[in-house]
Amino acid sequence: MKNSRITFIGCGNMGRSLIGGLIANGLPENSITGTDINAEQRQTTASQYNIEMLEDNQQAIKDVDVVVLAVKPQSMEDTLKPIKETLSQKKPLLISVAAGIKLSDLGRWAGEDLAIVRVMPNTPALIQAGATALYANKNTSSAQCDLAETIMRSVGLALWLDDETLMDTVTALSGSGPAYYFLIMEVMEKAALQLGLPQEQARILTLQTAFGAAKMALESSHDAESLRKQVTSPGGTTEQALKVLIDGGIEDLFRDALKAAQKRSAELAEEFGNS
Ligand SMILES: NC(=O)c1ccc[n+]([C@@H]2O[C@H](COP(=O)([O-])OP(=O)(O)OC[C@H]3O[C@@H](n4cnc5c(N)ncnc54)[C@H](OP(=O)(O)O)[C@@H]3O)[C@@H](O)[C@H]2O)c1
Repeated sequence: MKNSRITFIGCGNMGRSLIGGLIANGLPENSITGTDINAEQRQTTASQYNIEMLEDNQQAIKDVDVVVLAVKPQSMEDTLKPIKETLSQKKPLLISVAAGIKLSDLGRWAGEDLAIVRVMPNTPALIQAGATALYANKNTSSAQCDLAETIMRSVGLALWLDDETLMDTVTALSGSGPAYYFLIMEVMEKAALQLGLPQEQARILTLQTAFGAAKMALESSHDAESLRKQVTSPGGTTEQALKVLIDGGIEDLFRDALKAAQKRSAELAEEFGNS
């Protein structure tokens, strides 16, 4: 990756977090450029990182190996169509972080013979603790796949999918997932408050417990079910709480929640693709 030149079209939250991750992982700042139609975003990015910010997408894509597309899904078609000809001549690797935009639509707007990798990161990428799934089209070489994976690994975990349609499930799981954990933290904190703990103590104990459980699960060779059983003594307090959650239908609730998110992701893909 060290010798690759990368430009970011769209330097909002996701574009900037990827730029930050790449620089933190040793990519020289002079290998990175960015563009944004929003002058404020250009200024914010330039003041945060010592990279060249451009106004013109044509100029930005002229001499690079990788173009990261980090605009909103609804802006993708309008972003790609004006640069289609230059992309077809220069043939950089395209990486799209846009939720829901399918490879077939990206190819139609950018050029059918281009190497394109579609990725689905999540918000913890902002603090380099993201989880990203990747899927490449058939024009992408294995070196380009490695490059895309290295770029996404600079902001956290990165894994490849075997089937593009699984992107909707990934969106429902890890894409939307941080919000599910925020909700669980929110309701645990509220419950502790109602049971008498002061707010700040309820907050910090909730957060550290979430962090500790995630760290333990990541570092353990056991699956979540085994870990749960290990910390649930027969006749103990945890057993009582888990019985309430399980009898209350937590498994069905999560299955229905993920199904609803997966369905919405597929709907959005259709909507943006046909726009
Ligand atoms: N943020 C996340 O956690 C997250 C997670 C997963 C995936 N994503 C994906 O990442 C992408 C970017 O999200 P974001 O949250 O970073 O959005 P954002 O903060 O709105 O950043 C996108 C930037 O691109 C600019 N832009 C629009 N059209 C452009 C063009 N033709 N050329 C150059 N710049 C252009 C926008 O300007 P204007 O505002 O003036 O339009 C905006 O400043 C989205 O497709 C989203 O689905 C984000």
